[in-house]
Amino acid sequence: MVTPSLTQFTITPGVIDLSWGMPDPTLLPVEQLRAAANRVFDTHGPAALAYGNPQGPPPLIEFITRRLAQTDARTATPAEVLVTSGASQGLDLAADLILEPGDTALVDVPTYHLALHILRDHPINLVQVASDADGILLDELDRVVTELRTKNERPRLLYTIPTFRNPTGSSLPADRRQALVAFAAANDLVIVEDDTYRELSYDSPAPPSLWALDTAGTVIRLGSFAKSVAPGLRVGYITATPQHIDRLATGGLLDSGGGATHFSALVLAEYAASGDYAAQVDRFKDAYRTRRDTLLAALDAHMPPTTTWTRPAGGYFVWVDLPPDTDVKALTDAARSHNLGFVPAAAFYVDPATSPPALRLAFSMYSPADLTEATSRLGAALLTPTDA
Ligand SMILES: Cc1ncc(COP(=O)(O)O)c(C=O)c1O
Repeated sequence: MVTPSLTQFTITPGVIDLSWGMPDPTLLPVEQLRAAANRVFDTHGPAALAYGNPQGPPPLIEFITRRLAQTDARTATPAEVLVTSGASQGLDLAADLILEPGDTALVDVPTYHLALHILRDHPINLVQVASDADGILLDELDRVVTELRTKNERPRLLYTIPTFRNPTGSSLPADRRQALVAFAAANDLVIVEDDTYRELSYDSPAPPSLWALDTAGTVIRLGSFAKSVAPGLRVGYITATPQHIDRLATGGLLDSGGGATHFSALVLAEYAASGDYAAQVDRFKDAYRTRRDTLLAALDAHMPPTTTWTRPAGGYFVWVDLPPDTDVKALTDAARSHNLGFVPAAAFYVDPATSPPALRLAFSMYSPADLTEATSRLGAALLTPTDA
């Protein structure tokens, strides 16, 4: 059902809802983007409001290639970049490009729950692959692919988030990155690498992407400016082989509508050219690093010793593992009665019955004081999960 609200998220006074993986609205660069939009009209006039180049405006594509040269171990040539309306559209386009009806898409779980929603909108089978605390397990991937092939099913695509993963915050170690890319190349599997959180590294630079390690054209990387500038701009990008980019840019969707997000992409290019982009990323990183540290310190103070959690080096999320006998549904209800929200682990699994007792906390949207308060509410809910 479509609600009349202007935004997807609405704030309920008194509630601290750590279920939303969104930037803090007070950190969004409203004035800088207003100024950039004015400059776009000064520079481009009506061309800013025309149907755009299907691949995306060249100034933004050039910025993306320059930025990747700084943030990743490999940049892309302009022919390897397509501007999209966010990583979400990137995933939808990649699935359309790679998957035939009846094919199987693999995802390592836990994974971004709304990516599951996007993939489920396609006429395909979705199969989960187990991971450990660091990410996808290669022997499990091998086992699942072999088993599917013996059933004459066609595993064609693997969706994965190797860097500052949603929902755990963890990153895949270097040796497993190499092995994963090699496995995909040897098994005719296209990796769709969701690289949405690359810019938000708090301790050291983000690891090289799978795209950077790939020499066989087996990785399609999804990038996004939702977390490094603003989600409402709806600007992201794909890096892939020139052949894949060409097929997407000449497909019916972009032939009919032109560039996926032309005006926003021009505003972003103008904003980046002024140096505001790098400054904004630093602003987000400083704020979120403090929030992460505050949340981790509060968990240290408020969680029972039977509970463990991840210590993410980037991104938005901490994953909390609860004792095996925890009734997560009762805990979620108890937390709600304490005016606290989070996402229970089951949402991040293709098969929810296989999910462990765990939950995801997002630390991006709330102040350090709210995060400390939220953690004390979680501690109280854990003590009395049947209160609700
Ligand atoms: C892993 C991941 N991919 C994609 C998205 C959505 O990105 P976009 O706003 O660029 O479509 C999110 C947003 O939370 C995310 O966490």
